[in-house]
Amino acid sequence: MSYLTILEAKKHIGEDIKIGAWITNKRSSGKIIFLQLRDGSAFFQGIVLKNEVGEEMFESIKHLSQETSVEILGTVQEDTRSSLGVEILVKDLQVIGSSQEYPITPKEHGTDFLMDHRHLWLRSSKQHAVMVVRNELIRATYEYFNQHGFLKIDPPILTGSSPEGTSELFHTEYFDRDAYLSQSGQLYMEAAAMAFGKVFSFGPTFRAEKSKTRRHLIEFWMMEPEMANTTQDESLEVQEDYLSYIIKSVIENCPLALETLGRDIEVLKTYTELPYPRISYDDAIELLIKNGFDDIQWGDDFGSPHETFIASHFSKPVFILNYPKAIKPFYMKAHPDRDDVVLCADLIAPEGYGEIIGGSQREDDLETMISNIEKHNLPIEEYKWYVDLLRYGGVPHSGFGLGLERTVTFVCGIDHVREAIPFPRLLNRIYP
Ligand code: 4AD
Ligand code: MG
Repeated sequence: MSYLTILEAKKHIGEDIKIGAWITNKRSSGKIIFLQLRDGSAFFQGIVLKNEVGEEMFESIKHLSQETSVEILGTVQEDTRSSLGVEILVKDLQVIGSSQEYPITPKEHGTDFLMDHRHLWLRSSKQHAVMVVRNELIRATYEYFNQHGFLKIDPPILTGSSPEGTSELFHTEYFDRDAYLSQSGQLYMEAAAMAFGKVFSFGPTFRAEKSKTRRHLIEFWMMEPEMANTTQDESLEVQEDYLSYIIKSVIENCPLALETLGRDIEVLKTYTELPYPRISYDDAIELLIKNGFDDIQWGDDFGSPHETFIASHFSKPVFILNYPKAIKPFYMKAHPDRDDVVLCADLIAPEGYGEIIGGSQREDDLETMISNIEKHNLPIEEYKWYVDLLRYGGVPHSGFGLGLERTVTFVCGIDHVREAIPFPRLLNRIYP
């Protein structure tokens, strides 16, 4: 149709262009109509002057309803009052698709209503901004890892193993066998690291978690880098450098989206300053107990109030190091000087956004690995291939997983992870 998007049109001030848009709102006064438009790339204003389009077209535009799709021929004009910087002076407007009684009006709607209309809710300016940030985090991830010599590797989604424990597995049939939807590509990424050195994946993962919190999705997307010949300390440096890089990319490339979301860029900038603080699990537990948390003791996993409290002691994301072995998966490497904790860390985001990265050094001793698998009651025959990685030239290696939606939620400063993915799968929702 040879349309330009409004973002492209910024380079064509003074020219006449054709644009395909939807009407989100409008107001008129006398001989002028202000159309609030969106064309997918951005939200913008269209000015309709009676003198310019004639009486008949002016009247018909006045009666166009919300979400009517239109083709506009118009002149690109500078608009210094909007952050976008341009608007369209309409010369001709043709209706492409009509729209009657669009359910999401400019008034307030409840969350359930909006979630039931997620397929339409995505059209709103806030949701648009969130998806722009999500896209930038993905784009910058590929850029970062490509610049640092990582190979993108795609682990399978249908699997026979359960790296993060068996209680949260989605079961399915695989012809006459059992299979599970992947909870994490990690074990496969470890195999890939032994083949390619430094690798990363980005894909969907599934957790049948009966959690109904603002941080839990049933289906979420994870970035999982894995690095051969890399210690946990070295991995922490990659983690902070990577997170800082993708936040910087959003600050640089998504100013309009951050403005729409009301996210303070100065605050985000402080989260790009390295290094991030590190606190041991032991010290974190002590901090909580000293501050009156009587619902936790050494050996327990943190709940979200605990994470939020710990994070509030720091002005940046904080690493919590070396959790008890008993609450972490079988593959984590034991601490060299202690047998009760493992070489791992979770990265906790500020402002109550919770854990966004989980990572560890992986066990690389063959005998210890076999014994870990047995102690966790995992079927050793299912893990034969995984143990082979240590049988044939095992090396120290480390990796981590960054949850995309939690990172989007954090960077955007929004309340709930359900808005960080186009079509969220939640405990009670698989529609639309
Ligand atoms: O901490 P997790 O479970 O770690 C792993 O899966 C490792 N195998 C990753 C690795 O080392 N390759 O998950 C990693 C991250 C969490 O920090 C969190 O950001 C996100 O994935 N995550 C979730 N996000 C949304 N909804 C859920 N239910 C999530 N569970 C984990
Ligand atoms: Mg975790």
